Amino acid sequence: MQRMNRTAFLRNSLAVIAAIALAGSAFAYFDESYAQASNEADDPRLDVIYVPTPHEVVKRMLEIAKVGPDDIHYDLGSGDGRIVISAVKDFNAKKGVGIDLDPQRIKEAKANLEKAGVGDRVTFLNRNIFETDFSEASVISLYLLSTLNLKLRPTLLDMKPGTRIVTQSFAMDDWQPDHKETVEFDATGYKGTRTVYLFVVPAKVGGKWTMNAGERVIALDLSQTFQHIKGTATVDGKSAAIKDGKLNGASIEFTMEIDGKPVKYEGAVEDNSIKGNNWTAKKAS
Ligand SMILES: C[S@@+](CC[C@H](N)C(=O)[O-])C[C@H]1O[C@@H](n2cnc3c(N)ncnc32)[C@H](O)[C@@H]1O
Repeated sequence: MQRMNRTAFLRNSLAVIAAIALAGSAFAYFDESYAQASNEADDPRLDVIYVPTPHEVVKRMLEIAKVGPDDIHYDLGSGDGRIVISAVKDFNAKKGVGIDLDPQRIKEAKANLEKAGVGDRVTFLNRNIFETDFSEASVISLYLLSTLNLKLRPTLLDMKPGTRIVTQSFAMDDWQPDHKETVEFDATGYKGTRTVYLFVVPAKVGGKWTMNAGERVIALDLSQTFQHIKGTATVDGKSAAIKDGKLNGASIEFTMEIDGKPVKYEGAVEDNSIKGNNWTAKKAS
């Protein structure tokens, strides 16, 4: 598509998006239009166009992610900086970093930061999110596209267990959210809803473990799909299914039958060991 045509297309797409948003309906279509407009965006370096998150949705995203004084928050594709600034100003995060490839957005974010008066706890970096290290983050917000979330997913899953990732409108394919809700907004001029998703990075527990529970030594063979766990336990020479297994960051829980009764185990994973109240486990392989 010629440059002028692409500009016209983008303008038309945005007009369609605005009209749909004003009508307060067909938000699935809104997201599709947004994705298409992104593909047609004028700056070929940008993976997605700028559309700001409504302030009510920003607030709820940060509430859902439980942002607080111990957190380092990153917004990947930070636009005018509203999410990062709010994380530090309204939720008291100890540090906020916004990354955006568009210098115009960084300029706006820095101007908004100046007005917010939160000082040097917030930084904006004019960089590509796919070439920037954000591993220090304890909370990440994303308003990108499904394809971009999926591209980031391996890096996100390698982050410290318990890192919270909050996204709006776009999820993480077959990584099921730990929480999902619809947030209403009535921002300057138009009403609507956005879906907000929370993903908590799960510890990695797949493999064989030796568990000590009281007098018993139990062999566990766990398989993991994101935060869901299943597998088998060998208890007193008999095989028992691991049921209701799940991870919330580094917290693990599962149930198995001991002496014919279901027993629930809860513990905390740290690297190759798990510590529970009356039990421990060590990774065997
Ligand atoms: C939909 S906007 C979201 C803005 C902000 N996070 C919010 O929710 O209000 C996406 C932003 O990502 C930026 N962006 C697109 N591709 C990028 C990339 N590869 N690296 C960094 N930023 C990028 C765009 O410039 C735009 O500001």
